[in-house]
Amino acid sequence: MIGRICGTGSYAPPKRLTNDDLARFIDTSDEWIQERTGVVTRHVIEEDTTVTMAAKAAKSALEDAGMDPQELDLILVSTLSSNVIVPCAACEVQKEIGAVNATCFDLNAACTGFLVAYNTAQAYISSGMYQKVLIIGSESLSTVLDWTDRGTCILFGDGAGAAVLSSEEGILHPMVTHSDGTKGGALKCSSRHVKNWEAAEAAGDTHLFMDGQGVFRFAVKKEPEAIRELLEKVDMTVDEIDYFILHQANKRIIESVAKRLKCDIAKFPMNIQEYGNTSSASIGILLDELNKSGVLKKGQKIILAGFGAGLSWGATLIEW
Ligand code: COA
Repeated sequence: MIGRICGTGSYAPPKRLTNDDLARFIDTSDEWIQERTGVVTRHVIEEDTTVTMAAKAAKSALEDAGMDPQELDLILVSTLSSNVIVPCAACEVQKEIGAVNATCFDLNAACTGFLVAYNTAQAYISSGMYQKVLIIGSESLSTVLDWTDRGTCILFGDGAGAAVLSSEEGILHPMVTHSDGTKGGALKCSSRHVKNWEAAEAAGDTHLFMDGQGVFRFAVKKEPEAIRELLEKVDMTVDEIDYFILHQANKRIIESVAKRLKCDIAKFPMNIQEYGNTSSASIGILLDELNKSGVLKKGQKIILAGFGAGLSWGATLIEW
């Protein structure tokens, strides 16, 4: 058995911060941010939380799938920025949408999280353990950013993306995922729970820290490698793939991956200009936009590829 995506959904909080808005409180400019990253605006939470965004994306995906929440037997939420530790975000989503028959748990693989959630869903479905699975990537990164650090805060944003998978006859394609914990220091966030009010001022390591250039070099090398490794495993060429839906981290990273694969950039849809980097939500949000706008057609071959903190990276083939 394999899982087929039968519905997608996404949600972004209404408040948008433009590059010009950021330039009012940090030393930066719209021109610099657009040129180095491709980001124009990002959405940030005011009333929403990681859980409320996840639930809204989930409802939209279920509606798209025409599926009753009670049919779900597994809910996976991928997040690194949940507003709850226990109960897990997935249980909170279950409560919100009334998916009373689902088993629920969270996973954290940072920006590779949507991909890992998809792979986990496929592993359970192909084992026969679950049949109808909801995967969600939801992030409120605005709550873990140091808004005085122009090297990181300009990149990220909040939002949620979701997909519903339903089992059907078929053979599971091989998947590619890798992790390298020895390089974890390049992108880290220790804890958002400072010990006390005196510690709050000096709580530098409770904000997201990033070695921007190190992460850039890692992404442009490892992502094409993972895609090539996957293509070899499934015995396909770049030309046979209709779209590459990459984690939206930086426009220049995506352009570099396309160039290294010697592939037309038109096959690499992007929405980073609107949302910035939403970590584990980004692939789900983009997938939903492409689905709802009718870009994706039945039978198309699509590669999902992600990379990020851990360090972690990978690629997966889906047939639409
Ligand atoms: N606005 C204006 N200038 C800025 C700036 C900003 N927001 N951020 C950094 N600068 C300055 C630096 O201080 C530096 O100035 P200097 O030359 O006077 O020292 C100059 O711009 C170049 O900085 P650098 O860090 O080399 O820029 P960059 O081209 O590497 O771009 C990132 C920085 C963060 C955009 C880029 O490294 C990146 O996108 N890395 C990958 C990050 C990523 O994808 N992370 C998530 C992975 S899931």
